[in-house]
Amino acid sequence: MDSLLIKGGVPLHGEVRISGAKNAVLPIMAATLLTAEPCTIRRVPQLSDVQFMGQILKSLGAEVQFDGDSVSIQAKKVRGVGDYELIRKMRGSICILGPLLARLRKAKVSLPGGCVIGSRPIDLHLKGLRELGARIEILNGYVSATTRKLVGADLFLGGRSGPTVLGTANIMMAATLADGITIIESAACEPEVVDLAVFLRAMGAKISGEGSPTITVTGVKTLHGADHEVIPDRIEAATFAVAAAATGGEVTIQGSRPDHMHAVLDKLREAGVRVERNGTSLTVRRGGRLKPIDITTLPYSGFPTDVQAQMMVLMTLSPGISIITERIFESRFMHVSEISRLGADIAIEGPSAIVKGGKRLSGAPVMASDLRASAALVIAGLVARGSTLVKRIYHLDRGYENIDAKLKKLGARVERVAD
Ligand code: EPZ
Repeated sequence: MDSLLIKGGVPLHGEVRISGAKNAVLPIMAATLLTAEPCTIRRVPQLSDVQFMGQILKSLGAEVQFDGDSVSIQAKKVRGVGDYELIRKMRGSICILGPLLARLRKAKVSLPGGCVIGSRPIDLHLKGLRELGARIEILNGYVSATTRKLVGADLFLGGRSGPTVLGTANIMMAATLADGITIIESAACEPEVVDLAVFLRAMGAKISGEGSPTITVTGVKTLHGADHEVIPDRIEAATFAVAAAATGGEVTIQGSRPDHMHAVLDKLREAGVRVERNGTSLTVRRGGRLKPIDITTLPYSGFPTDVQAQMMVLMTLSPGISIITERIFESRFMHVSEISRLGADIAIEGPSAIVKGGKRLSGAPVMASDLRASAALVIAGLVARGSTLVKRIYHLDRGYENIDAKLKKLGARVERVAD
């Protein structure tokens, strides 16, 4: 397993180009199962999760051809049963359920594993599919869904933590081929859900309301192939913005969508960080003394849970007390103990982390536990005096394309080392 060896204390300077959004490309790849015609998806980030989704689609019988940052997929013939071990390993694979059921009227996928950030239930996915007329059975670790015919319905997808992103994706995809009209209430509004709707419309689907809490889908008989460029990754862009601010440098983030990042940019400014927008570029630099702030993670367009860990590192540098409350996942503070090993002073009180900022961080060996926690540990290593070894960076490779090369280009002293 690889680690990242970081020699901290170097302010990041220069330009970085943002890759396509992981959380858009995964459901869009799954959506290609809805047609027997060829689809091309562009600006695909080279990530292990994307490769994984490609393997899953191949295991279902689709032809998948990666070519640089594009992937061509044709699901001419497709099986309804996915490879148990493959599917089990990546939560995002649950979004093949809706398309398979719509295409074949049957689907059998392994229950996605939970992960360190929470139990990751799929009750809302299954509730929505049942309302569309699916019979769902959970047996031996598999979810089996069958239907004589999917029929449009008015359904409510809100859960105890608000909307579900991949649940909305699954139901929206299934509804494209259902009989009649489906209205999804309490739909997720994330830009990645909007991007999926744009792709589905390019395939001939009839969808409106995406980006709002009410999405309407009018079923059609068949869908055709499409060619689509994926939106940039707003979480990667936010991660680099926080790294620029935390290291006290100045970084221009290119090829981003600042209009997808209002909550993050607002909180960075509140913390005293200078952020200038110029079209699809953002220039971020520390504007002087950092200030403590309070953050609560919320469904979009609130502050994204996927940037919580990264912002916590910035808050360890802001003199005073910052409070970070996690409202989306039940245990997304795995990074706290590891950041504390670098000298941060953070106490967890229920859903909140209380950060006593203003400490100097000093390097130490740390262990990554999940994708965004590992990004936070990398930022902490970039700031800390001395060397930090971030172990198990396969977590990082799931969601950040060539992050060590991008950081090196910004002047960071990082080396990928094999354990
Ligand atoms: C997506 O996960 C993202 N992953 C996550 O990003 C992101 O953190 C999350 O949305 C929230 O924004 C992908 O898009 C591949 P949810 P998803 O269903 O769809 C509860 C990253 O780092 N819930 O919106 O799986 C759930 O437990 C990853 O890139 C139910 O209760 O998340 C959570 O508390 C991490 N029942 C909340 O809803 C359900 O049926 C939000 O989950 C489904 C979800």
